[in-house]
Amino acid sequence: MYRILRKERLAPGIWLMKVEAPFVARRAMPGQFIILRVKEEGERIPLTIADYDRQQGWVTIIFQEVGLTTRLLAKLNEGDNILDFVGPLGRPSELDGLKRVLCIGGGVGVAPLYPQIKYLWEKGTSVDVIVGARSKEYLILENEIRGICDNLYITTDDGSYGRKGFVSDVLKELLEQGNKYDTVIAIGPLIMMKVVSGITKQHDVPTIVSMNPIMVDGTGMCGGCRVTVGGEVRYACVDGPDFDGHLVDFDEAMRRQRMYREEEEHICKLMEKLMEKEGL
Ligand SMILES: Cc1cc2nc3c(=O)[nH]c(=O)nc-3n(C[C@H](O)[C@H](O)[C@H](O)COP(=O)(O)OP(=O)(O)OC[C@H]3O[C@@H](n4cnc5c(N)ncnc54)[C@H](O)[C@@H]3O)c2cc1C
Ligand code: FES
Repeated sequence: MYRILRKERLAPGIWLMKVEAPFVARRAMPGQFIILRVKEEGERIPLTIADYDRQQGWVTIIFQEVGLTTRLLAKLNEGDNILDFVGPLGRPSELDGLKRVLCIGGGVGVAPLYPQIKYLWEKGTSVDVIVGARSKEYLILENEIRGICDNLYITTDDGSYGRKGFVSDVLKELLEQGNKYDTVIAIGPLIMMKVVSGITKQHDVPTIVSMNPIMVDGTGMCGGCRVTVGGEVRYACVDGPDFDGHLVDFDEAMRRQRMYREEEEHICKLMEKLMEKEGL
């Protein structure tokens, strides 16, 4: 059992949980994730390790309520336990030896980006960051990131904060102004990573994206998480989740992510009815 030490609401439907998990914390590196199960009859879902403290033995996860499991998780409170919490999984991001990096985060993708920005900054790398959100209230980790980068650009789809538009608009401008980056790291919705990779390809800037396919075991045993990269099948849970954005088949990834939509919607409706009945 893994105890929730702190729970914080970062934005509507977006939660941070600090979880006591000393074995995970001891070996966690930026880019890695955990797989958790809320309770006995629950499914396994992957969430990125957003922060960790090796000495104190905790890791944080930041998640968005999008369906049954993330809603059940959001119902837990400080002092409650999560049944399974397996990790760290996946390959750590390759961040050493870089001089100037542009990090781009969209929506809750800002959470997995945060440990990477922190690591790069601690290594003395020059880091520019673009973060995007639907609107001001959905923007997360602004203060935490502001202190650990050279330039922070904020965009909101509706213009309620920062610049109106998409992260890709700022990316285009920065590259057209002649800014040079060793690497662009983009994490967010698949469509955002696809657009970013298209732009950086035109400017010949290496680009790493973090893929978020449906996962089951997270240890390379089932292939549920497969993605096509450079024409080859790769398993995101063991070969990734980071891949070369210029080689990823995003259209296939988007099709695969929608695979269980009907079942997911069905189960959410059932749960809503059940909760209504029980007055939750
Ligand atoms: C490596 C990795 C890291 C991730 N990190 C984060 C994170 O830090 N924060 C965060 O909010 N989300 C993260 N996700 C996505 C997260 O796993 C899904 O939001 C979650 O599984 C949804 O489960 P659900 O039952 O609440 O929703 P559902 O109703 O089951 O699904 C809603 C949508 O979530 C996706 N999804 C469903 N099941 C899975 C699954 N087993 N694996 C992956 N995606 C799934 C699908 O696109 C689906 O359409 C990550 C995914 C991966 C693969
Ligand atoms: S989740 Fe099963 S192989 Fe990756």
